[in-house]
Amino acid sequence: MNRPVLPKHIQAPRSTAAPATFRVKSFGCQMNVYDGERMVEMLGAQGMTAAPEGADADLVVLNTCHIREKAAEKVYSDIGRLRRDDGTRPMIAVAGCVAQAEGAEISRRAPSVDIVVGPQAYHNLPKLIAKVTQGEQALDTDMPTASKFDALPTRPRQARPTGFLTIQEGCDKFCTYCVVPYTRGAEISRPWSAILDEAKALIDGGVREITLLGQNVNAWTGEDVRGRPQCFDGLIRGLADLPDLARIRYMTSHPNDMTEGLIAAHAEVEKLMPFLHLPVQSGSNSILKAMNRNHTAESYLAILEKVRAVRPDIALSGDFIVGFPGETETDFEATMALVEQVRYAMAYSFKYSPRPGTPAADMDRQIPVEVMDERLQRLQAAINTHQVEFNSASVGKRVPILLEREGRYPGQKIGKTPWLQSVHVVAPDSALGDMIDVELLSAGPNSLAGALIERKAA
Ligand code: SAH
Ligand code: SF4
Ligand code: F3S
Repeated sequence: MNRPVLPKHIQAPRSTAAPATFRVKSFGCQMNVYDGERMVEMLGAQGMTAAPEGADADLVVLNTCHIREKAAEKVYSDIGRLRRDDGTRPMIAVAGCVAQAEGAEISRRAPSVDIVVGPQAYHNLPKLIAKVTQGEQALDTDMPTASKFDALPTRPRQARPTGFLTIQEGCDKFCTYCVVPYTRGAEISRPWSAILDEAKALIDGGVREITLLGQNVNAWTGEDVRGRPQCFDGLIRGLADLPDLARIRYMTSHPNDMTEGLIAAHAEVEKLMPFLHLPVQSGSNSILKAMNRNHTAESYLAILEKVRAVRPDIALSGDFIVGFPGETETDFEATMALVEQVRYAMAYSFKYSPRPGTPAADMDRQIPVEVMDERLQRLQAAINTHQVEFNSASVGKRVPILLEREGRYPGQKIGKTPWLQSVHVVAPDSALGDMIDVELLSAGPNSLAGALIERKAA
C-alpha cells in the first residue's frame, strides 16, 4: 500500500493540512457519475465543503474512465492542469476505473498523485486522506466482499428531481474488447432492501424519477422482503409501489438478460418509462462472435420486436463499435442495415480502441484508423437522421414532462418526455420536480420546444 515518497523536485508542493474544500470530477458512464455523487455526499458528511465553481479546491478527485484509450489518457493531462499559478497544487486523488486498471503505475507516471482508489474502495477515501495528511501516499484498489454501499452515508436532500441508483455492479460477460470485467470486477447484485431503502431516501430528498444503474442492470437478481426470489422486473415492480416515485428508468441492459418478465413490465408498469437502451455493438454475426457477445443480430432484433409488440411507442437506443479487428466492409454494411431496420431514437457509436489485457487487442487484422473514421461518420450520419426523424414525429403530441432544470431565459424550464427527449418550455409558475403537460411545437436533433397546456398537481 505504501510507496516511497518521490523526489521533491518533481512534485509541486502541497500542504499536508487536512483538506477543507473538495471537487469531484467524474468521467465515463452513469455509474461513475453515481459514484462521484456518493463521494461528494460522503466528503460532505465528513465536514468538508464543495469548492465553488472556479475556486481552488484543497482536494481534487478525478473519477476516471478506462473504457477507451482517449478516456484513460485524459487523466494525465488533467493531473498536469491541477498545478496552480503559484506552483502549489491540491491534494490529488485518482478514483474510478483507471485507478483500478493502472493502480500504483499512476503515481509512477504522475508523482503528484496522492491517492489512487478503485471503484469498489472509495468508501475508504476519508482514511486515505488522513494517511496523506501524515505525509504518505495511499493506494486502495481492493475489491472487498463487504459492500462499500453499507459504509456510505444515507442519501441526503438532492439538488435535482432525478436521481441515479446503482443496483448492480460488475460484469461476467467478458466481451473481448472490454475492460469493465477487470475494472469493476464480478457481477454482484445489491440486496432488495438496500435498494428500496436508498430509493426511499432519494424520494424523501426530493427525487421523483430514479434511473436504476448497473453495467448489466437487467442481470440483477435477489430476494424480496418475504424471501421470494426476484429478477429485475420484480424489483421494478417493487419500486413502482413507492407512492411518491413518478418515473423509473434503467441502464445499461444486455440483450442476453432481456427476460420475458422485463419485456412484460414495459407493458404493465405505468411508471416504467418507454425507453430501452440495449447495446448491440455490431450487425455482423461473425463480428458479434469475435466480440463474445453471445447473441446474433437476429436474436437481438427479435428482442426488439417483442418489446415493440407490447410497447409500440418505445424509444430505442444502442451502442456500436466500428472497426473491431477483422471488420470487413460487408460486416460494416450489416451494422448499417441493422441501424436502418431499427431506426433508433438515439444511439452511441465509438471507434474500436484496443485496451491492454483484453483478447481483442491481440487479434490479427486491426483496422486502420482512416477506415474507422470513415465508417464512424457513415454510421453517425444514419443515427442522426433517425434521431431527427424520431423527434420530428413527436411534434404535435401532448405529453407529460418532468421539469429537471432551469432554462436559459427567465421562466424557461427544461424537462424530459417519457421517451427521454429534452423539452424547453416557458412555465414560470411551475417548480423543478413538477410534472406538467406540454404540447410539442418543434424539434431539433437534441431537444424540442413545447408549450404548457395545464399544470398537474405535483
Ligand atoms: N455494459 C454495457 C456498456 C459498457 S461500456 C454493455 O455491455 O452494453 C459502454 C460502451 O462502450 C459499450 O457498449 C461499447 O459500445 C463501448 N466500448 C466498450 N469497450 C470499447 C472499446 N474497447 N473500444 C470502443 N468502444 C468500447
Ligand atoms: Fe463490457 Fe460486454 Fe460487460 Fe458490457 S457486457 S460491460 S461491453 S464486457
Ligand atoms: Fe468507464 Fe468504468 Fe464506466 S471504464 S464506462 S467508468 S465502468
